Amino acid sequence: MKTVRVELGNRSYPIYVGEGLLVRVGELTRQHLPGRRLMVISNSTVTGLYGEFLKRNLEAAGWKVLWAEMLDGEEHKNLATVSRLYDLAVEGGLERGDAILAFGGGVVGDVAGFVAATFMRGIAWGQVPTTLLAQVDASVGGKVGVNHPKGKNLIGAFHQPRLVVADVATLRSLPRREIASGMAEVVKYGVIRSASFFAWLEENVEELLSLVPEALTHAVATSCRIKAEVVAADERESGLRAILNFGHTVGHALEAMTDYTRFTHGEAVAIGMVVASRLARHLGLGFTAEEEERLVNLLEAIGLPTSLPPGTDPRELLLFMQRDKKVKEGKLTFVLPRRIGEVEVVREVPQEILLEVLSA
Ligand SMILES: NC(=O)c1ccc[n+]([C@@H]2O[C@H](COP(=O)([O-])OP(=O)(O)OC[C@H]3O[C@@H](n4cnc5c(N)ncnc54)[C@H](O)[C@@H]3O)[C@@H](O)[C@H]2O)c1
Ligand SMILES: [Zn+2]
Repeated sequence: MKTVRVELGNRSYPIYVGEGLLVRVGELTRQHLPGRRLMVISNSTVTGLYGEFLKRNLEAAGWKVLWAEMLDGEEHKNLATVSRLYDLAVEGGLERGDAILAFGGGVVGDVAGFVAATFMRGIAWGQVPTTLLAQVDASVGGKVGVNHPKGKNLIGAFHQPRLVVADVATLRSLPRREIASGMAEVVKYGVIRSASFFAWLEENVEELLSLVPEALTHAVATSCRIKAEVVAADERESGLRAILNFGHTVGHALEAMTDYTRFTHGEAVAIGMVVASRLARHLGLGFTAEEEERLVNLLEAIGLPTSLPPGTDPRELLLFMQRDKKVKEGKLTFVLPRRIGEVEVVREVPQEILLEVLSA
């Protein structure tokens, strides 16, 4: 087991990463979460796979478990679901000094965290993420929230969990496409912050895709450590945290433009990272053709797309980029690589250059 500490003063918390950690969730939650009652928020799929096992483990550790299930899917990450969960919490007698445990992917984590942030003005919570994306991304940083019909993640809060337990064995039941999608964020961490991690990924991509536990544990723990460092330096996203958006300016636009149906998040981000690399080369930031080739090769080895779908209209994509909630006064900000392991935030990228790169 590896432990990564997210250093946020009195809101610091540990992330435990390893193979077979589900059996230790009872004991670990007892150490880090207060109260007698624990409301577990999960979804139908994850409950079907691991619910019985986790519930018994928690009860054996002394928790009075209130198991709450939401429907599976991003379309249920909304206030109606949250409202129903408040009802279950009230009916189940959950108190201010009790706790919530999120058990599932990023959707469950964001919803459960939002319930924890708001129920009785905020109660303690922990996370047991069961997708690669949730383990390497959504479990670090304390962003919680739900979607609004007008936009994703428009309603939310910052509420740090007290602990995260990432059992890489749970990834075995995850569809291949979800593994590849989560890997896009893992590659992102290498490019933005660590050339040695990137090189390690190139060496170990086969092991990772075959879900070798030691390799997965290293990749998840290193990803969490990198995100934790960035978040610790900028908890509320005013500066450095922006670098986590590498690949996301184009990625988000591509997802929105295709109605969130054609690409998974990671697939869109993979394409976005390649576009950002091209842009960096165009602007002469130092990123080389060889580095771009290494990035493309790694993404392809994972099974991720690396170019815009044929027929993509660059101007339409640009419009979607300008609609992103992070765009300030219509100015396009990009996170661009200087070299593998280092990025720079570039504001006001000229539209003509962007269109040129998108059309190439
Ligand atoms: N809070 C943050 O910082 C943050 C960061 C990144 C993403 N997110 C959010 O996370 C969400 C995406 O997360 P996701 O990719 O985990 O999607 P998800 O939660 O929808 O999970 C993907 C699918 O896998 C299923 N699943 C989960 N664990 C499984 C397992 N072990 N075996 C088999 N199936 C399993 C789920 O039921 C779901 O059908 C988005 O809503 C996004 O906004 C939040
Ligand atoms: Zn992302």
